[in-house]
Amino acid sequence: MMAQGKIVTLDVTDLAFDGKSVAHLDDGKVVFLKGGLPGETVEAEIVRSKPRYDQGVVHRIIKKSELRIDARCAHFEQCGGCTWQDLKYEQQLSYKQKQVADCLERLGGFDTIEVKEIMGVDDPFWYRNKMEFSFHVAEDDSMRLGLHERGHFDRIFDLEKCYLQSDLSNEIVAWVRQFAISNDIPAYDVKTHEGYLRFLVIRQGVRTDQTMVNLVTNQGEFPSGDTFLAQMTETLGQITTIIHNQTGKLSNVAVGETENVLYGPGFIEEQLFDCRFRIRANSFFQTNSLQAEKLYGVAFDMLQPEATDKVLDLYCGAGTIGILLADRVDSVVGVELVEDAVRAARENAALNGIENISFHQGHVRDYLKQQRSGAAEFSTLIIDPPRAGLHPKAVKRIIAMQPEKLIYISCNPSTFARDAKSFAQAGYDLPVVQPVDMFPHTMHIELVGRFFRN
Ligand SMILES: C[S@@+](CC[C@H](N)C(=O)[O-])C[C@H]1O[C@@H](n2cnc3c(N)ncnc32)[C@H](O)[C@@H]1O
Repeated sequence: MMAQGKIVTLDVTDLAFDGKSVAHLDDGKVVFLKGGLPGETVEAEIVRSKPRYDQGVVHRIIKKSELRIDARCAHFEQCGGCTWQDLKYEQQLSYKQKQVADCLERLGGFDTIEVKEIMGVDDPFWYRNKMEFSFHVAEDDSMRLGLHERGHFDRIFDLEKCYLQSDLSNEIVAWVRQFAISNDIPAYDVKTHEGYLRFLVIRQGVRTDQTMVNLVTNQGEFPSGDTFLAQMTETLGQITTIIHNQTGKLSNVAVGETENVLYGPGFIEEQLFDCRFRIRANSFFQTNSLQAEKLYGVAFDMLQPEATDKVLDLYCGAGTIGILLADRVDSVVGVELVEDAVRAARENAALNGIENISFHQGHVRDYLKQQRSGAAEFSTLIIDPPRAGLHPKAVKRIIAMQPEKLIYISCNPSTFARDAKSFAQAGYDLPVVQPVDMFPHTMHIELVGRFFRN
């Protein structure tokens, strides 16, 4: 077993799923490395040794890869966000493409599925419509507002400029930080659970130019709240709505138990195809609006909607897919767990004059359980689960429903491959999948596939 702390020279050969690079020791043992790109020779330290693989950190690049470029962002080395900003964009795409094929083969046992060429973005920067920044009490007791440090979930660095959202977003971060410091409003300390400011969430409609500022704080009165509002609206006039969410929960998530709209309508809108969508502080909406259109477009092309289709849209979020599809099918039912998202979905359906859609709030698996007797009700299922994929019981119940058309949108090729294997064993064919790059510079991969019942 390789001794921890040992310094080794390695040739990097590949990239792994979690953004780490891959090399091999002289005896063939795999090493997953933080840093390094394929084609590089590096000097690395082994930081962890396990029976089947080692983990290491690159200290020095001895021979640089041709795939390496200079990262645009000054925070690149420190930030946990863009792990691949120093890898040419075309290479990022080709690694994502390869990872989809690898997952299907390794985890799904498929070797005949065509993996279409991944759909990339026109501009790999400025693509996010939502960013979440954290307040933090640093070791010297100073306040920070920014993003997580790479590899440290409990450390935040002060962000000056991020290239993923917009210049306005960067201005808002700087302004809020300065306001908090000048007015002595303490950041919430995750260790002591004292302090006030927890998160700053900024959402922007890429097509509508509307901007939401959502300040998530601890419970209690907002110190200098009136001044905050007056000065922010005066200085940052492009902001269209300001929201104050409060939470006393210990868990570190940017969702409030109570919400107070301080300014504007309490939501922003985004345009996808010819529909308008309201996005509220706590409801899910695809983070890359322009690529979301491509993703949904692929799903609709695969679906070939027909006027007789009765569609079940599982994990429907704010109802986007069903609403976009509704006028081409007989009817849609959306199922979603988060109350706020369901409220937004109903509002969005009304906003777009859609009447043949309804929404059910609850767990997908519970909804499917109730549906057992009415299995034939839906001809078409669209599934878009979170990264964990489908619960085995949900897979069973979907198979029992025997949908004629089954579309699966996934943000995790590993769980997609696992679930696809179950559908294949139950007699569904999956001829082709289409990966779509929603998150340049990160290792996240989105894909769509249509299953055909034999
Ligand atoms: C990847 S998002 C898809 C949203 C939507 N299809 C879209 O394109 O905007 C997954 C959604 O599933 C919801 N969700 C997570 N677990 C769930 C469950 N057990 N039952 C129902 N919905 C769930 C999340 O709240 C989230 O809105």
